[in-house]
Formats: sequence, C-alpha cells, structure tokens
Amino acid sequence: MKEMKVFVTRQIPGDHLEKLKEAGHEVAISQFDRPLSEEELVEKVKGTDAILSLLTDRIDGDLMDAVGSQLKIISSYAVGFDNVDIKAATDRGIMVTNTPCDEVNEAVAEHTWALILALSRRIVEADEATRRGGFKGWEPDIFLGINLTGKTLGIAGLGRIGLMVARRAKGYNMTVLYNKHSQDPEAERELGVKFASFEELLAASDIVSLHVPLTDETRNMFRKDVISKMKKGSYLVNTARGACVNEHDLVEALRSGHLAGAALDVFSNEPNIDPELIGMENVILTPHIASATKEARDKMGEMAVDALLDVFSGKKPQNIVNEEVWPNRRKW
Ligand code: DGY
Repeated sequence: MKEMKVFVTRQIPGDHLEKLKEAGHEVAISQFDRPLSEEELVEKVKGTDAILSLLTDRIDGDLMDAVGSQLKIISSYAVGFDNVDIKAATDRGIMVTNTPCDEVNEAVAEHTWALILALSRRIVEADEATRRGGFKGWEPDIFLGINLTGKTLGIAGLGRIGLMVARRAKGYNMTVLYNKHSQDPEAERELGVKFASFEELLAASDIVSLHVPLTDETRNMFRKDVISKMKKGSYLVNTARGACVNEHDLVEALRSGHLAGAALDVFSNEPNIDPELIGMENVILTPHIASATKEARDKMGEMAVDALLDVFSGKKPQNIVNEEVWPNRRKW
C-alpha cells in the first residue's frame, strides 16, 4: 500500500491514530491544544493526502485547493459537517466522511435530558445559591420548578438523535410531539410520538428541543416570529447547532418572560457567547459538550481513522457524506 500523508488538525483522545502509523502512513498532528487559525491550517495541510479535521476547522474550496490535487479525503471527526463545503469537495472528487454512531447519538440525547432536567428543576441556579451560603433551611417556595410528568416535549427534527431523546421521554410520562419533513409511522407506533406541524409543535410544547442539522433551511430557524409562536412560559433546548437559533431574539423572549428558560450547548459564534445570555439566571450554558463522553469520543476516533484506512486501501468508507463522489473520486 502506498504511504499516505495525513494531517490531524488537533490531538484527539484515545490511541486510534496509532493504527495509521502502524499501517505505514505518515501522520502529522497539530502541536497546539487549540483550533488552528486559517493561515496555520493552510500551511499545515499543504501536500497531504488526507485531513482528519474537527468541527472547529472551516474547510472550504480554497483550502482544498491549497492542499493540492493529491487530497483524497477529509475525515471529519464529528457528526455535523456544516463546517465543510461539501459541494466544493464533491466538485473536486474529494471524499468527506463523518462519525455518526450510537455512542454519539446516546451522548447527545443524554446531555439533552441533563439540560431538560436541570432547566425544569433549576439545578444550576440552586447549586450556585447553595454554594454562596443561600441555603437557610427548608422553605416552601424556593427554586420552584415544574414536574415533567404530563408535560409536552416538542422535538424539532426526529433523526437518530431526536429519536433517542423521544425514547427517553417515555420514562417521564411526557407527551411527545415531533416535526420533520415526513411522518415517521414506525416511531409513532414504537414510541407513541405524534406528528405535529411546526406551528402546532411550537404552540403546544412546554419544552422544545432542537435536533436538526445546520443547513440553509435551518439557519436562524428560531427567530423572533417563530419564538413568539412558542407556548408562553415554555423552554428551549439546543444541542444541535447554535446558528439555528437567533441569540438576540432568544434573549428578548427570555427577558420579556415569554420563554421561561433556555439551555444551550451550542452557540452561533463559538466560542463567543452573547454576554446577555451569560448574565441570565434562567439560562443554562454548556460549552458544546453534548457528545463529550469517553464512549462517544472513542468511537468517533475509531470511525475517523477507519475511514482513512478504508480509502487508503481502495475501499469505500462507511460514512461518506458526499456519496455521489465515489465514482468520480480522485484516483492515485
Ligand atoms: C457533532 O459531532 O456534530 C457534535 O456537535 C459534536 O459535539
């Protein structure tokens, strides 16, 4: 097998990269414990056959051209791939792969539930107050939250992660509404979830949780006019992509009391967060860690490396995002 040059844009947990070296490939890993700047990335990727990239790397056609015509695959260590210009890759015959797997889906679904529970029982506020010496003894009216039993959860986007979130709602005896492009009769039968138009879902849900990929259609999906259609006193949870929610409009809805709270794992301009959100007590913020479990990261590393090994040995990798590129892929 020909020796390939791989650039890994940041060290990843686990020892999966060793498999590439053992197979005789040349692996260079960024020495920085941070995302590379655009200039650094261009400099590092030049002349490589493959890039193992993270969702913090912006990979566009210019970058692909800067790498050179030998670039064969971008193996993205993430499920979401909105940071990679897929069309540009396809036009150039470059394969793009990602790492969707049960371990990541479970991790994101579990984090979503951690946020729903923390929001509904005001766990973060209560923890902070307790640490500050605010616990003066049992009181009848401190940190009143809401019971989840009997409430309605609205899932916007019933893909693999949305389904796992829905499955876990059964344990809380919640009504689950979902919205997606087409109805899912199997999920309706198996999980008892009910299809609703987007507007119906907004109006009826006590908690709306987002599980859509970031596309032209979903960018700014939750903006002023949409948020205003959400049930008064409801909650918004976002573990999908930050740019699906207009943060300014969300702040207004939280400030006015139209929404009771929000829990966000993702932000429109990461790692920057709207300072107003940071100052709000009814908001829970986590630093894009929904998939940050040992199991998920391990599987992501395995899949990202296996995609490279498959391509290097002439095999079609399991998770090609741009499937149509396969017959027209760059040959060597
Ligand atoms: C992904 O893989 O797309 C997730 O956002 C990572 O947390």
